[in-house]
Amino acid sequence: MTVAQSVEFEKFQKEVDDLVASHVVVTSNPYTAWFEKGDLSREDVRQFAKQFSVFSNQFLVAQLKKMINAESLESMRESKEILANEIGVMFRSPHAKDQGHGLSDDEKDRVGDPDLVGTEGSIEGGSFHFRAGHFEWLLRFGEPLGLTFEDMGKRKHGWPSTVYFCDELARIYGDGEGMVGMGASYAVEHWAASGFWKQLIKGLGAFKQRQCPTLPLAFFTWHDRIEDNHAAHTTSELREAFSRSDFNGQLFLKAANEMLDGVKAFWWGLDEERRRRHAA
Ligand SMILES: [Fe+2]
Repeated sequence: MTVAQSVEFEKFQKEVDDLVASHVVVTSNPYTAWFEKGDLSREDVRQFAKQFSVFSNQFLVAQLKKMINAESLESMRESKEILANEIGVMFRSPHAKDQGHGLSDDEKDRVGDPDLVGTEGSIEGGSFHFRAGHFEWLLRFGEPLGLTFEDMGKRKHGWPSTVYFCDELARIYGDGEGMVGMGASYAVEHWAASGFWKQLIKGLGAFKQRQCPTLPLAFFTWHDRIEDNHAAHTTSELREAFSRSDFNGQLFLKAANEMLDGVKAFWWGLDEERRRRHAA
């Protein structure tokens, strides 16, 4: 990148970052703000777990689309890293603990649990464990809430707002047109790194302490730990794409904004429902 390009890039990056930072889903999400306070009933957490499991499971469709539509082998591999990790391939890491070495017998039964799984490295040479699938983490989160496999993850379990979000992910995030998919990824990852995981962890921590001591929170703490890596990744992807002759900033921004509107639908749906439940 020349100095002039670098200046242009920084200008554009600021425009994108402002767009994300000023979107209402980042500035004032009423659901996560309420959730964080921790005044949650068991039914609140059950409803949250169900809708979140639908998003998390259906996200695989969007990620698969993103992967098969990738414009280069490199970006196909990057998408594959996320997809394979989601379904249970652990990053190969220097930490023997991840792979089950040096663990007690009790801990060996827990290989693949998110509190033992690393957030850095590559799936290249990593090992697969059913228990390491993120959906299985959510199933274990649902267990003490009385939720089973039959209650989680399918479209039929999703409210219209949740299903709308999943469809927008598949449509925009999974799009083959480079700028659209890239703009959506940038928006999703920077939204995800903007603090909502911490709000969820805080609220769930209070609920766990008060009335559900066996509730495993590691699905949430693991994702909170990994988000900064993902966000940094989309920033370098943008930097790389910016110098290409076919770079289209308007398309990128439009996709980023539309994707955040999809994210908004999900949280506002949860908010509307909890208000209705609490008013009843
Ligand atoms: Fe995940």
